[in-house]
Amino acid sequence: MKARDGTRRGWARVWAGMLAGAACVVAGPAGIAAPVSYVREVAPILQRHCNGCHHPGKAKGDVDLTSVASLRRAGRHGAPVVEGKPGESVLLSEVQGAEPAMPKDGKPLSAEQVAVLERWIREGAADDTPPSPPMPTEPPVYASPPVLGAVDWSGDGRWLAVAGRGEVLVFDARSMLRVRRLLGAPRKVDALRFSPDGATLAVLGGEPGVRGILQCWKVEGWRRTVHAEAGHDLLMGLDWHPDGTRIACGGADRTVRVMSARDGSVMASAGVHSDWVRGVAWVDDGRRLVSGGRDRSLRLLEGVTLGLLDVINREGEPVGMVARRPGSEQVAFAGGESRAWLYQAFARPSAADPGQDPNHVREFDVWQGGSTALAFSPDGQWIATAGAPAGVTVQKVEGGGRVVSLPGHEGVVFGLAFDAQGKRLATAGIEGRLRIFSMPQGTLLTNGVPVEVGTVAGGGSAKEARGR
Ligand code: HEC
Repeated sequence: MKARDGTRRGWARVWAGMLAGAACVVAGPAGIAAPVSYVREVAPILQRHCNGCHHPGKAKGDVDLTSVASLRRAGRHGAPVVEGKPGESVLLSEVQGAEPAMPKDGKPLSAEQVAVLERWIREGAADDTPPSPPMPTEPPVYASPPVLGAVDWSGDGRWLAVAGRGEVLVFDARSMLRVRRLLGAPRKVDALRFSPDGATLAVLGGEPGVRGILQCWKVEGWRRTVHAEAGHDLLMGLDWHPDGTRIACGGADRTVRVMSARDGSVMASAGVHSDWVRGVAWVDDGRRLVSGGRDRSLRLLEGVTLGLLDVINREGEPVGMVARRPGSEQVAFAGGESRAWLYQAFARPSAADPGQDPNHVREFDVWQGGSTALAFSPDGQWIATAGAPAGVTVQKVEGGGRVVSLPGHEGVVFGLAFDAQGKRLATAGIEGRLRIFSMPQGTLLTNGVPVEVGTVAGGGSAKEARGR
């Protein structure tokens, strides 16, 4: 039982460490006179119960409840929130009474939640969201190798992008020289991915307990074209719609979002999970979306409305990264307790025996501390999985035979990506090292820290190729 406990906690501990900020964000002691915090107390209630119908992309009743500014803006019957005046705030009258009008068709808010909203308005409805950090002009200086949260190759084989701390490092995929540092990326990057046409790099993350961030960078000139803040917690797990116009993502606020790649606006938003949404993947040519959460469920959603169609899995583990297997309607997820799992992304046959797991296809290598990342080769024949304590293996999806084990990792791997030809696999993680292996031999081609560590301020960075 002890061992099982250790296994269960391994991955959770890693994430708790990674997201220490999120874990620590709790309200002050109840009943003490500290003012109600919008970002920590009010926003999570609205996000959970209201914003699925009241965000800029879908403002029912002309009401957008996603920011303090929009809460103060007049709707059809006045502003939802009038500072200092609970009696005049439509937001409150809508959620009070024996049969509250809002949330429409949902379970009424608890008396405590209504009291929090009431007190916040009475105290002046202040916005305590910390201001966005200014755009840096100098690259960060690292005292130790940074955690590398994500990695991706562009489909045309020209670029490799790696997430650092508050920046993204871009390499020429042939010479492996670093050609760019994209400054002003989210402080914590959870995921990054090139668009299907290779012209845009999407970067996702944020500041735990403060804000979620989606950015798009045009590869030509490496200009940032989108910086969008959504919600008040980290955004996690991203997938480009096959037509390249939008991006789906999950988040620590238990919300699945679809955001425009043109301007970052939220096109759809749904609170369909009861815990962090760690991964998403489009299926059925972008008509449907699969989302996976720490609540152990893999859910099939309608691609436009994000309405829940079905829960795909029956047994399972906390769901980490989710990926579609190329050329199929199958999705895999990294299981937080033991291994990666593969499922058919269909709605479950309704006649199925409830004791079975009819969409389950197979699972892959067992990792003592849980699986932390996965990636399919472009032809969908191989799956690479990473796990804790530290390791990466590549297996055949059909049959599950081992292709190769990649040695040398000394810390948990969060980023895994095959290049477009399936000839190279990049790995990155806690160690701060970017490794590239040849496939299927598993020969180590590159192994290095992608930034200068301990560089004296003002000192040159000799290794940086200043390509333009
Ligand atoms: C399932 C969708 C849905 C959810 C969830 C929802 N609303 Fe609404 N809301 C609506 C619709 C639709 C309207 C337009 C008026 C109507 O049809 O009742 C509306 C209108 C409103 C209005 C404007 C009322 C007016 O008279 O102008 C407010 C304020 C409001 N909602 C607050 C909330 C709050 C607060 C929550 C969460 C506790 C919430 N809503 C959750 C659908 C929703």
